[in-house]
Amino acid sequence: MPALCNLEGRLSPPEEAVVPVLDRGFLYGDSVYEVVRTYRGRPFELQRHLERMDRTAQRIALALPARERIVKELQRTLDAAGNPESYARIIVTRGVGKFGLGLHNAEGLNRLIILVRPLELPAPEMYERGLSMAVVKTRRNPPQALDPALKTGNYLNNILALREAHDAGCDDAILLDLQGRVTEATTSNIFFVQRGVMITPPLSLGMLEGVTRHLAIEVARGEGILVREEPHGPEALAAADEVFVTSTIREVMPVTSLSFLESGEQKRVVGDGKPGPLSRRLLDAFRRRVDSR
Ligand code: PDD
Repeated sequence: MPALCNLEGRLSPPEEAVVPVLDRGFLYGDSVYEVVRTYRGRPFELQRHLERMDRTAQRIALALPARERIVKELQRTLDAAGNPESYARIIVTRGVGKFGLGLHNAEGLNRLIILVRPLELPAPEMYERGLSMAVVKTRRNPPQALDPALKTGNYLNNILALREAHDAGCDDAILLDLQGRVTEATTSNIFFVQRGVMITPPLSLGMLEGVTRHLAIEVARGEGILVREEPHGPEALAAADEVFVTSTIREVMPVTSLSFLESGEQKRVVGDGKPGPLSRRLLDAFRRRVDSR
């Protein structure tokens, strides 16, 4: 079975799964989601993902189904799909209701959807070649608006940023906050290396608290690498020895060129244009850590 959808407990191919047009997830992006992958068939860091989903749900006042139900349905879907390794997207929408933004319009029938498909990873060459990223003009929305710490179904800001990067011929976008500080990429967190120190923006700037970010910091510290969380402008990326991003799907992926779209600067190579030693070492240590679980 290549891909499978679990819609409120009913399993079907995703193309056949249908959500009503009055579902608030469809109308307003009024939903939460998590992307989990498996290693050796088992969902990785599931508790951490579900804790993050709890935090998002609480912040948007959406009552989630019981944790045990989510875990059980996820496992059932993974088992039924039977892929060697899977990508799983867990979505909870606020369900259907009367027209109107007010939460009182929702009928309290939240909808649990789990999408499972075979895990598609970046090609191994990408870890040798590295990503080309654009620091785009689209800014990360500030935490005082739709807080980027929330993993909701509303990703339009990221979609616009990614489109800008693609239009510039780059693989992905890096977003600055309204003060011009580096925050994160469209579906990954970002790090850079300066004289052997690994630096990443602090969560307080407004970004998703990546499960992989957390683990990468832990693994790096375990390796004796100095890690600092501090705010920097894009000039720090331009001057960095290495840049890399982290996410569930990309693990630790080097960035080997940067374009700065606001200043109109064309592609600039990071370091010597090849994945740096620290990124490689961290990816190896990260994979060893995953294997030891
Ligand atoms: N994205 N930042 C954003 C905006 C993200 O959407 C993600 C995850 C991350 C990395 O988080 P993690 O390490 O927990 O995967 C950072 C997932 C992969 C997605 O939406 O497909």
